[in-house]
Amino acid sequence: MSSDQKAEVAQYVDGKSWWRKLFTLKNVDNLRSRAESSEMSRSLSAFDLTAIGVGAIIGTGIFVLTGTAAAQNAGPAVVLSFAVAGVAAGTAAMAYSEMACMIPVSGSAYTYSYATMGELVGWIIGWDLILEYLVGAATVSVGWSGYFVKFCESAFNWQLDKRWVDSPVIFDAKTNSFEVTGNYINLPASVVSLVVTGLLCFGIRESARANAVMVCIKTLVILLFIFACIKYVEPSNYTPFVPENEGSFSKYGATGVLAGATRVFFSYIGFDAVSTAAQEAKNPQRDLPIGICSSLILCTILYVAVCVVMTGVVPFRELNSSAPINVVIGYTGMRWLGIIVSLGILFGLTSVMLVLLIAQPRIFYSMALDGLFPKFAAKLHPKYKTPWSTTLISGLFCAVAGGVLPVDVLGEMTSVGTLFAFALVNIGVTILRVKRPDLPRKFKVPLGPYLFPGLGAIMSVGLIATASAHTLLRLFVWMGLGVLIYFCYGRTHSVINNPHRAAEFHDIEKVDI
Ligand code: ALA
Repeated sequence: MSSDQKAEVAQYVDGKSWWRKLFTLKNVDNLRSRAESSEMSRSLSAFDLTAIGVGAIIGTGIFVLTGTAAAQNAGPAVVLSFAVAGVAAGTAAMAYSEMACMIPVSGSAYTYSYATMGELVGWIIGWDLILEYLVGAATVSVGWSGYFVKFCESAFNWQLDKRWVDSPVIFDAKTNSFEVTGNYINLPASVVSLVVTGLLCFGIRESARANAVMVCIKTLVILLFIFACIKYVEPSNYTPFVPENEGSFSKYGATGVLAGATRVFFSYIGFDAVSTAAQEAKNPQRDLPIGICSSLILCTILYVAVCVVMTGVVPFRELNSSAPINVVIGYTGMRWLGIIVSLGILFGLTSVMLVLLIAQPRIFYSMALDGLFPKFAAKLHPKYKTPWSTTLISGLFCAVAGGVLPVDVLGEMTSVGTLFAFALVNIGVTILRVKRPDLPRKFKVPLGPYLFPGLGAIMSVGLIATASAHTLLRLFVWMGLGVLIYFCYGRTHSVINNPHRAAEFHDIEKVDI
């Protein structure tokens, strides 16, 4: 056991009541020194980190959900939905930046919550992040499969058998139940998850390189789409800009813009994955805030431009498609563009999966170092220095979830799970500013500890509240399961609350890292 961990263990107050132990805080100073002595290889530059952010952010949200949000919720004002969701994401990005440069460890929101709100909240957030990263990757794999099918059709005229490219179940909101579709499995979704997982086992450096290439391709493809289609914009398509509400909360009008914001929020998910690579960053204090903020700003600009072009070329009601970009290109008649863009989107979606599946094992790694997760997750591959076992397990779960579950169920779970984490990271910033004003912060959320973090937390909770009842129910069930696991395992294995467990932990470090 290293000296900082010994110091951490030495803080235990034996005889502390079980209730107080739930709120034991991780020591921020120890976390900082642990980050400095990390054994993970430090190879990521500010550019790599920004590429990781863009890699995770631009994906199913802009390529798939923009069309449905415009057609069903906001009309041409979908660009305002993006602005609202962007404010929630922007406040969270600032909060993550402050936290990440202060505590540059790979646990991200999990570690920040552990250090500010105690062990139980930390565990709950760690458990919740499975929704963001693992379920998020599964969501994107389903979007990938959809564009793969379209690409095969447009480029080669191949009609793939629906039973092998679609989910075997769907969720019927009217009957509130899952129904069997007769399909076997969404095979492309499962296969792409496994391929990405294989790449990740070989190392962060190789994965970051592959990601950087894919990010360049998807950025170029988006620019190509914008510049090739802008001349087909028909200004009359922008009126009415905010279509009149049609009776229900989510159908147009101001409330429709808000419902659209909840839906397109998915598009912004991912910038926080940058913070999970903190221990592999060359200069984390300086580069993490750069990576988080610049990737979000770049993507927001691209999103606004794509929305303006989409709703300008096509009357918004016609964008109700799983591949709205192809609908727009269909209006312009440029078949060659459709093929190039579909291919670029496939690369783009692959990079999102890559980054989300980089993040997940690093959360497990941090949780295992704390004893809240079985210790095998803290073992790194002797040669590649990657958390390979949890990378494999995450990839397998992703392949099963993407192969079986429908995209709407997966996507909504990802969004509410992420919003929950964002709310707590914002609150954590305020807590640490008040309790530890002395800690060095190379990046600070502007205008004090209350305004933006408060706004971010309120907006995150507000957007969770607009999710459907069955999504909220699933979130509670998932969290309930997490709490149960904590009481059956984490509470008795936590290193910080059970000093004798630290010896097992020592064993891992010495032998395997
Ligand atoms: N933001 C990512 C996407 O839209 C998760 O696919």
